[in-house]
Amino acid sequence: MPLSDVKPKVSWLQEYKSKVKTAEEAVSYIKSHDSIYVQSNAAAPQILLDAMVKQAPELRGVKIYQLMTLGKADYALVDYSESFQVNSFFIGANVREAVNAGRANYIPVFLSEIPRLFLSGEIPVDVCLLQVSPPDAHGFCSYGVSVDCTVAARKKARLVIAEVNKQMPRTLGRAFVHVSRLDHIVETDHSLPELIPAKPSDIEKAIGSNVARLVDNEATLQLGIGAIPNAVLANLMDKTNLGVHSEMLSDGIVDLIEAGVITNDAKTVMPGKVAVTFVMGTRRLYDFVDNNPLVEFQTSDYINDPFVISQNHKMTAINSALQVDITGQVAADTIGNMLYSGFGGQVDFIRGAAHAKNGKAIIALPSTAKGGKISRISAMLSNGSGVVTSRADVHFVVTEYGIAQLYGKTLKERARALISIAHPDFRSQIEQDCKKYSWY
Ligand code: COA
Repeated sequence: MPLSDVKPKVSWLQEYKSKVKTAEEAVSYIKSHDSIYVQSNAAAPQILLDAMVKQAPELRGVKIYQLMTLGKADYALVDYSESFQVNSFFIGANVREAVNAGRANYIPVFLSEIPRLFLSGEIPVDVCLLQVSPPDAHGFCSYGVSVDCTVAARKKARLVIAEVNKQMPRTLGRAFVHVSRLDHIVETDHSLPELIPAKPSDIEKAIGSNVARLVDNEATLQLGIGAIPNAVLANLMDKTNLGVHSEMLSDGIVDLIEAGVITNDAKTVMPGKVAVTFVMGTRRLYDFVDNNPLVEFQTSDYINDPFVISQNHKMTAINSALQVDITGQVAADTIGNMLYSGFGGQVDFIRGAAHAKNGKAIIALPSTAKGGKISRISAMLSNGSGVVTSRADVHFVVTEYGIAQLYGKTLKERARALISIAHPDFRSQIEQDCKKYSWY
């Protein structure tokens, strides 16, 4: 609702107006050595960030904490390294070079636990930079497409500076902040960055169809980030009564809801609702979640809590990986020594699903990378690779060649199962490499 349509019968409107200023004025309250939380994913407040970067000459040693952000992150450029130091819980494309060059830092942590780092004061927050929806008739703005860790950071911040963007969807759930909690307001009207899903390749389609064999009717789904989840969703049209409890939603979910495949009727946690903590996709997805009571946004310490996840009926977690070794160790945030992404909610959901009644914990990945030149299944992880999901946690690994069931299996059985779903060109080499192991 445009602000002019809101009847000023409540006192918040005066307060709101008194806080409105230009972006330059609003960010002038940031001081050297402040610790800043930047609302993340598709909600990074780009106008405030641009204004902050313009003030770089006056700022020194400002610490920035963030998840993955879409859009640019100029504060991570080498020119501003004296002014800003980025600390990222998840490495997106816009800070990958800075992290690998050592200018920015990566914090490996479960998404379920990040709010606790703020609430406990372990990571202090001086300033919170937000992008929220315009206030409703009661003076509440919505955090929109990124609720996740924003609530915790906002609660602890000494200073809250918000872009109030007319194009930020008004999402529902634990998604609201009252105007009285905002210190400085900058009114904006710009589109959100979009994550356009690529058309699935034949390999991704084959993986999607193999994963779909593991998805039962009435399952509650979590789908992670990357190309595979959308390919999986496209293969679920013949299922019935699916539900969603997922840290993120992408566009593919909307098709399944509109087709009546996702009903959320069989869910045991928040039945009837799609439960989520952030969304990243196209404008179609952002419009879908706008004012939609079907979609319940909650914080990531709730949605991603493995104990909450495990209470779901037939919880089925589907996440991707960069490399899997022959014992089932999953590398998902590194490619050898290169820091690539983050933990996100992979382990939260793998653990929650594994403990759920009739739950399934699935890692799905193409058998090769770099146009077929590299096998992603190998005797050992590459030097420098970190493990995100441990070999005791992963139950199923799926490639375009089939499904390897690892749970309860010996190392030898795991190796055989994983070799059987590796690319045929690499199977004998992996077997040769495995012969170095006494147990093989
Ligand atoms: N060796 C060398 N290069 C590799 C590789 C390997 N073993 N595995 C992948 N790559 C390359 C790919 O070829 C691709 O390169 P390109 O961009 O030049 O084509 C790039 O690395 C990315 O791989 P891809 O498989 O396309 O990534 P993705 O976008 O599908 O994302 C993850 C996969 C694992 C990075 C992503 O799912 C992730 O970050 N997971 C961890 C967090 C998580 O699961 N959270 C869950 C809820 S959000």
